[in-house]
Amino acid sequence: MSEDSVSIPQWTPTQRELDDLDLLVRGCFEPALTGFVDPTTADEAAPITLQVSPGIAELAGSAGQLDLIDPEGAPLARLTVESTWPAGDESVGLCGPVRQLALNHFGPFRQLHVAPAELHADHDRHTLLAVPVTRPLTTADLGAITAAASRESLTVLLLACVGEGMPDRLSGPALVRATLAASALIGANAQVVAVSAADHGRTTPHRTWRSANEWLLTSVAHAYASHLLMLTDEPQGQLPESVAAIVDQARPPRHKQGVVVFFTGLSGSGKSTLARALVDHVLERGERTVTSLDGDVVRHHLSKGLGFSREDRETNIVRIGFVAAEIARHGGMAICSPIAPFESTRARVKEMVERAGGGFVLIHVSTPLEECERRDRKGLYARARAGEIPDFTGISSPYEEPTNVLKLDTTDRLIAECVHELIDALVADGWLHP
Ligand code: ADX
Repeated sequence: MSEDSVSIPQWTPTQRELDDLDLLVRGCFEPALTGFVDPTTADEAAPITLQVSPGIAELAGSAGQLDLIDPEGAPLARLTVESTWPAGDESVGLCGPVRQLALNHFGPFRQLHVAPAELHADHDRHTLLAVPVTRPLTTADLGAITAAASRESLTVLLLACVGEGMPDRLSGPALVRATLAASALIGANAQVVAVSAADHGRTTPHRTWRSANEWLLTSVAHAYASHLLMLTDEPQGQLPESVAAIVDQARPPRHKQGVVVFFTGLSGSGKSTLARALVDHVLERGERTVTSLDGDVVRHHLSKGLGFSREDRETNIVRIGFVAAEIARHGGMAICSPIAPFESTRARVKEMVERAGGGFVLIHVSTPLEECERRDRKGLYARARAGEIPDFTGISSPYEEPTNVLKLDTTDRLIAECVHELIDALVADGWLHP
C-alpha cells in the first residue's frame, strides 16, 4: 500500500453500488461514464450513485478521495470527490471519477465478465446484437433474437444481468446457467457475457423501475454492441426444456427452500416453548433439517457478554440473523426466538435472510405484558419492577409490536393448540409439506 493511502478514508459500498463500480471500471457504459454521478442534477440521466455516512463524507471531503473496499476489506477503487449531494438524513451522496485499484477476480462465472474492450479485440461492435437478459429466455424470446440477428447477419451477445436484485427470484449463477443453455439452442452464432447490472428500481431516488433500469440496460448494451434488442419485461410463452430444467432446479418448491421462522415477543410470552415444540414437530416429520436459535441460549454462546442496551440488542439480533441466513442459504430451517423488540432490527434480519435466498416468517407471540408478568417464571419482572434490572423489555425498555404478522397469544391456551395453528400456517404458505 502506498504512503498516501494511509490518510485516505475507506468505505464499503452496498452491493448495488459495488455492482455499479464493477461496470464503471470495466467501461461498461455508453455514453462513457467515469464515476458516480449526482442524480439531483437535471441533465444527469444515469442512476449510478454512491451514498456514504455523513462522517465518511466529511473525511472524504477533506482528503479529496475515498477508497472503496469490498466487504472483506480489499481496496477496489479510489474515488476523487468532486462534489456531494443531499441523500437524506443519514447519508450523503458523493460524486466524482473512480480509478480501479484492483481487479475483482472472484465470483461465480467471473470468466464470463468480459469487458467491452476485451470483447472488441475479437469482435467488431457493428457485427454484434446485444440482448440484455434479466430472466430465463423463453422459446418466443429465442425466436425474436434469432430473427433480429439473421436479418443483418449479426452475432448474438446475451448479456446475463447478474447484479443485485436483477434476476427476479433467481440467483445470478442460475441466470447465467439458464442463459448458457439458451445460447446453446441459438447455436455457434451466440455468446454469453455476464454483467453486474443491478436492479435500480427501488434504490435510486426520483426514478421509476422502468426509466432507471431501462437506462442502465440500454447503456450497458450499447457499450458492447451497435445493435440492441430489448426483450419484454414479462416472459411470453414457454421455456425451452433445457432452460426449464435449470430454472426448476434453482427454484425448488417452498418446502425445499431455506426458511427462517422468527418468533418475537416479550420475555415469558411463550416464544421458547413454542419454538421448542416446533423444532420437535419438524424433527418428527423428518423432511427438513432444523436449527434452534433461542434468545437465552444465543446469549450464552454467540452473544456472550452483550447487555440490553438498544445497541447490544441490535448486535445480538443481527448475529442471530447472520447465522439464520446462512442456515437458510443451505436450504435448512432456522427457528429463532429472541425478544427482538425493535422493528428496524427485525426488518434487517428479514433482508439478510431474503438476500441469502431464504423465506422469512415472522410470528408475534403476543401474550400481553400482564400475563407475562403474572407468570414471571424467572422472577425477572419482579426484579425489574423493583428497579434491580435496568432496560427491561416491557417495563423500562420498549417493545415495538409488529403489524400484519401471525399473532399467537398463549394466554389460557394449550401449547399443542398454538403449535397446530402455527404448523397449519406454515403448511398453508408452503414452507412445510402438507
Ligand atoms: S433481545 O432483546 O436481545 O432480543 P434476548 O431474547 O436475547 O433479548 O434475551 C432476553 C432474555 O434475557 C429474557 O428472556 C430474559 O431471560 C433475559 N433478560 C435479562 N435482562 C433483560 C432485560 N433487561 N430485558 C429483557 N430481557 C432480559
